[in-house]
Amino acid sequence: MVQGPRIKDMTRSAGGDDTLALRGSASHLTLSLPDEEATRRLGQALARSLTRGDTVLLSGEVGAGKTALARAVIQSAQEMSGQGPEDVPSPTFTLVQTYRTAGPEIWHADLYRLTDPSEIDELGLLPAFDDAICLIEWPDRLGDLRPSDAIEIALDMDGPGRRARLTAPSRLIDALSEQEHPV
Ligand SMILES: Nc1ncnc2c1ncn2[C@@H]1O[C@H](COP(=O)(O)OP(=O)(O)OP(=O)(O)O)[C@@H](O)[C@H]1O
Ligand SMILES: [Mg+2]
Repeated sequence: MVQGPRIKDMTRSAGGDDTLALRGSASHLTLSLPDEEATRRLGQALARSLTRGDTVLLSGEVGAGKTALARAVIQSAQEMSGQGPEDVPSPTFTLVQTYRTAGPEIWHADLYRLTDPSEIDELGLLPAFDDAICLIEWPDRLGDLRPSDAIEIALDMDGPGRRARLTAPSRLIDALSEQEHPV
């Protein structure tokens, strides 16, 4: 049986650098994701922990697995809502796709093709940052419109797998750590 990473594989630290000091009690968590199943389990754990008003900034190079992780969050949230999982295509061309769940709506955005930050307002993202759960690929395009309390997940290649570095409010890192079957 192929095992995804367990919580013992993670390294965890309280926020201490200058950037994080501005945001209060942020913590870091580094997870090894050796295969796509591990990515799916992280998405499932996030779906259980995210709440209305949470924005997740998914960074990493082309092919790092941002869409795969967003898809896992969305499909897990739909399963938890008793809905059959929908197809979750990459929003490369539509820029934004929205998904209903029993809880908050989930907005999945890929801002790679954005040419001007003014388009962020046109896409309706600003109210969504408060009213929905937002999963944002290529978040550098947000510029100053980036929510100050956003959850950051940086994905890197790690051999054939991936590594995820999370920076998030302590309550989310704690919630991920406290789950019975953590990632
Ligand atoms: N943990 C993992 N281990 C190995 N492969 C993975 C893992 N997670 C995702 N992948 C694979 O990585 C590939 C690229 O994933 P994905 O399309 O999600 O990348 P992306 O970061 O969204 O790229 P883009 O910048 O083009 O939007 C997919 O084939 C996916 O199956
Ligand atoms: Mg993508």
